[in-house]
Amino acid sequence: MDEKQVLERYRTRLVGRFHRLFDEWFDARRGIETVRNVDAAHLADVVDLTGYEGDEELYAGTPCLLFEALHSPLSDMERASTTYIDVGCGKGRMLIQAVEAGFSNVVGVEFAKPLAEQARLNLNAALPNADGTWRIDEADARTYDYPDGPLAVFLYNPFDPPVFRAFLSNLLKGLAERPRELRLVYNHTLCADLLDAEPAFERLSYTPLQRAYARLMNPHPFGAWRYVGAA
Ligand SMILES: C[S@@+](CC[C@H](N)C(=O)[O-])C[C@H]1O[C@@H](n2cnc3c(N)ncnc32)[C@H](O)[C@@H]1O
Repeated sequence: MDEKQVLERYRTRLVGRFHRLFDEWFDARRGIETVRNVDAAHLADVVDLTGYEGDEELYAGTPCLLFEALHSPLSDMERASTTYIDVGCGKGRMLIQAVEAGFSNVVGVEFAKPLAEQARLNLNAALPNADGTWRIDEADARTYDYPDGPLAVFLYNPFDPPVFRAFLSNLLKGLAERPRELRLVYNHTLCADLLDAEPAFERLSYTPLQRAYARLMNPHPFGAWRYVGAA
């Protein structure tokens, strides 16, 4: 390992610890639990893990401090009429932040029942006066039927290429049937090449300041895309 890699490893660890403190504080303030990661092995009996690496962590939450920076390419979307969807919402941390950020229609899609149930508990506790603004759909991203109207889709590294392909083809099929505005924010972009290769999507840009902040604070690569329709 060279000097640069050692420094990068320390940076990642330091940033990870810093986020952990804020995420614990995020939970403590709201009386919820989103911090503990969950391994795939713990959910193998309740979800179809074909196409997943069995020894991986299935759930880890996006650091709460990254919400604004990651979502900045959505800033001009009308929050009252756009549905915010976290595909693979886990315990619902991003959904809470989306409601707090003014989205009035927020949906979590989660295929692991125990995580979907934890997300419901968390949102009920964190947002006691937000009835009707959010819901959790227990569903698989490979077959999910998206709601009508403009969509802001968020992904935090929920799946590897085989499942990502199925997610993307299902999403595109839905958009071809009912075309509308869609923007997608993707953190930890392991499958960015699949989106870049898809003519129906084009990259959205972050301002240099947003990009610098998110790069400094985010151990992972990230990006945003816009649906531009079938060619
Ligand atoms: C890395 S976690 C991200 C959690 C949340 N989006 C966040 O940023 O805090 C990925 C989540 O995607 C879910 N997931 C993975 N594959 C899925 C699929 N095919 N359909 C629905 N949810 C899925 C996992 O159960 C896990 O909760």
